[in-house]
Amino acid sequence: MTATIGIDGKTAEYPVHQGSVGPEVIDIRKLYGNTGRFTFDPGFTSTASCESKITYIDGDQGILLHRGYPIEQLAEQSSFLEVAYLLLNGDLPSQTEHDEFKYLITRHTMVHEQLATFYRGFRRDAHPMAVMCGVVGALSAFYHDSTDIHDPKQREIACHRLIAKMPTIAAMAYKYSVGQPFLYPDNSLSYTGNFLRMTFGVPAEPYIINPVVEDALDKIFILHADHEQNASTSTVRLAGSSGANPFACIAAGIACLWGPAHGGANEAALEMLRTIGRPERIPEFIARAKNKDDPFRLMGFGHRVYKNYDPRAKVLGAAATKVLDTLGISDPVLDTARELERIALSDDYFIEKKLYPNVDFYSGIILSAIGFPTSMFTALFALARTTGWIAQWTEMMEDKEQKIGRPRQLYTGHPRRDYVPLNQRG
Ligand code: SDX
Repeated sequence: MTATIGIDGKTAEYPVHQGSVGPEVIDIRKLYGNTGRFTFDPGFTSTASCESKITYIDGDQGILLHRGYPIEQLAEQSSFLEVAYLLLNGDLPSQTEHDEFKYLITRHTMVHEQLATFYRGFRRDAHPMAVMCGVVGALSAFYHDSTDIHDPKQREIACHRLIAKMPTIAAMAYKYSVGQPFLYPDNSLSYTGNFLRMTFGVPAEPYIINPVVEDALDKIFILHADHEQNASTSTVRLAGSSGANPFACIAAGIACLWGPAHGGANEAALEMLRTIGRPERIPEFIARAKNKDDPFRLMGFGHRVYKNYDPRAKVLGAAATKVLDTLGISDPVLDTARELERIALSDDYFIEKKLYPNVDFYSGIILSAIGFPTSMFTALFALARTTGWIAQWTEMMEDKEQKIGRPRQLYTGHPRRDYVPLNQRG
């Protein structure tokens, strides 16, 4: 099938490609050559940047699949490490493959001892995302020379290193912020249990892992693992398209994720819920969110792709109640969140604009109940999303059609003009 595009009395046919599911794409790579014109799509609302087999989202139906498996089933029945294997390799592992993968990741959890000195360069009150950007980018200095990105084996080692070391790096960022000593990884623990111990354990006594917390956090990591071509994944792909090493690409992804419109929304959403405080104040904030002249937005609400309930928010909303009940924690913010959701979803503005809770609306309530400060929320998002980023980076590196990403523009600045010497200017 083709699409016909005509301009200046001339028409040309452009191939239409059909995926396995989801919208077809019009291949416009020859448009500029044929018409001397670019497409114009700020924010890429109608643009597919690549072909991928990793994650599929149906925003209208609120469907999220990882290599074909529904996120609800993975969150309920799988583990983060198994989902990481799935994203990287395309299929669920056999028991042998799972055990080998777990062994491989476990053997990469330590970071170079000198990396610890990077933390000392930051103020203790540095935002953990600033630390993560710096330290992950610095990993290039330790592995850059030995990472031949055109060698599949070395790409695989880089993937394992990043998945394995992100919990260690994130835990160290937290420890540094509270002035406690770093804990080395304990390879006898699960991926998430090891992270909990490195974060909340101290050398002075054994750390007892609460299985409810371990399970909830592992579920949160699964729900944040990958999400198609979102802003930070697109950043990783664009950085990787230049041939930059994977550590630098992941650092770029972390930087992009930090923004409150993206991964930073989980921190902003909990701050917002705490500012609202009581359900009686909700109408005031709903009014602000609807006010065009007010930059305030309901954090944790709305999504570029989901025009239905984010399936991850559904799982997190249920998990929030279960975790708080099991831990015996009563957090009024959860009641405020539920009431805010109820009011917003019955309000014409939110219904008309199809604004629903997204992954960031409830996650912070659970993370706070587990004991994380809000400043760590986006660092946890980055920890989990590293698996998706590196799977997408690998897919891009293996894509024969991929080339350096280099968009064009609509130029509305000055046409050519000559330089005026300073003594001749008005
Ligand atoms: C993530 O892309 C991904 O997949 C991201 C992510 C992932 O897993 O990688 O899912 C993670 O980033 C989730 C989103 C987290 N961000 C927030 O919760 C911040 C609040 N949400 C918004 O800023 C907004 O909804 C975005 C950024 C998420 C999406 O913005 P879009 O797609 O560019 O939509 P838009 O800004 O053009 O909004 C459409 C309309 C606008 O009104 P009009 O100009 O048409 O009159 O809806 C309004 C917006 O003003 N709107 C909101 C709103 N979100 C959109 N109004 C009030 N509150 C909001 N939250």
